[in-house]
Amino acid sequence: MYSTKIKGVGHFVPDNVVTNDDLSKIMDTSDEWIQERTGIQERRWIEDGSDENTASMGAKAARKAIENAGLTKDDIDFIIFATLSPDYFFPGSGVLIQDMLDMPTIGAVDIRNQCSGLVYSISIADQFIKTGMYKNILVIGSEYHSGALDKTTRGRGLAVLFGDGAGALVLSRSEDPSKGILSTHLHSQGEHAEVLTVKTPSIRHWVPAIIAAGEEDTSYHPFMDGQKVFKHAIVRFSEAIDEGLEANKLTAEDIDLFIPHQANLRITQFVQRRFKLSDDQVFSNIQKYGNTTAASIAIAMSEANEQGKMKDGDLVVLAAFGSGFTWGSVVIRW
Ligand code: COA
Repeated sequence: MYSTKIKGVGHFVPDNVVTNDDLSKIMDTSDEWIQERTGIQERRWIEDGSDENTASMGAKAARKAIENAGLTKDDIDFIIFATLSPDYFFPGSGVLIQDMLDMPTIGAVDIRNQCSGLVYSISIADQFIKTGMYKNILVIGSEYHSGALDKTTRGRGLAVLFGDGAGALVLSRSEDPSKGILSTHLHSQGEHAEVLTVKTPSIRHWVPAIIAAGEEDTSYHPFMDGQKVFKHAIVRFSEAIDEGLEANKLTAEDIDLFIPHQANLRITQFVQRRFKLSDDQVFSNIQKYGNTTAASIAIAMSEANEQGKMKDGDLVVLAAFGSGFTWGSVVIRW
């Protein structure tokens, strides 16, 4: 069996910065409310009329990750792409990125696991690499939330939380079992599928039905029971980290850097306290980008790498929780 090393990281976010004060001009909200509950100060939203989209952002992040890995596009054997905001109902955006990157006829798969999408994608890539099936896999998370948010007071509970952006990783075969991905753990609990969802357009409720229902029908905007998500998130984040540490006979004291899915600064701070981690041991950039769901961990890893926060031999722990519900963790020896 081979082991899997994260060889390259990269990210891309749109230039357009939207501050909390900008939002308070278009809906009834305030910088104070948003910062107090979420820690978010600003986010990036693709500018109206721009050609940018989920796949194009993903392709830009992917190019940076491939360059960072010291590889070329021809070295990549497979693409795993995670998003909850795909360009089309079908096909998935993975193939669009493959075309944008002018890659040969390698396989591309889309993962629909929302905020946990990147953790799931890393785990899937890890299995393909360990077994020897592929040598270099591109894992990408990209989200274009701003196109689907209800940017009025009616939608303020969600609109203030989410941002656009993309992150990418290159996972590569390694022959050194002491380094790289030590474990991945994945979970889901579909009984809570309706707690955080965009329900339409879907085969159960197709476009003519939405048009017929008129303005009353808001099912094509995201819906979230925020408090329920919060309560489950703090429990599941902690369980997933415990599970990863125990599987490797490690403790929280061994963690050099915890990179959580950037859901909410309050959730991260709760987990930080639970594991008695110092500020230096936790990476947060939700303040600048909001929640970018499947992209958030890859963007955070890319920035952590730029800031020299992941050093050779460091123990890096990733964890995510989100819609589905789905959650999981990844333990890495960098
Ligand atoms: N600005 C101002 N007021 C707002 C608001 C906004 N953007 N959004 C909601 N409110 C109002 C509500 O209408 C409500 O008013 P009311 O009491 O008059 O009815 C009040 O603020 C409290 O709303 P509530 O939804 O109970 O707030 P909360 O304290 O639960 O905070 C979240 C909301 C979303 C910040 C919080 O529930 C949360 O962080 N949940 C987890 C979300 C998450 O991480 N999701 C991603 C999945 S990983």
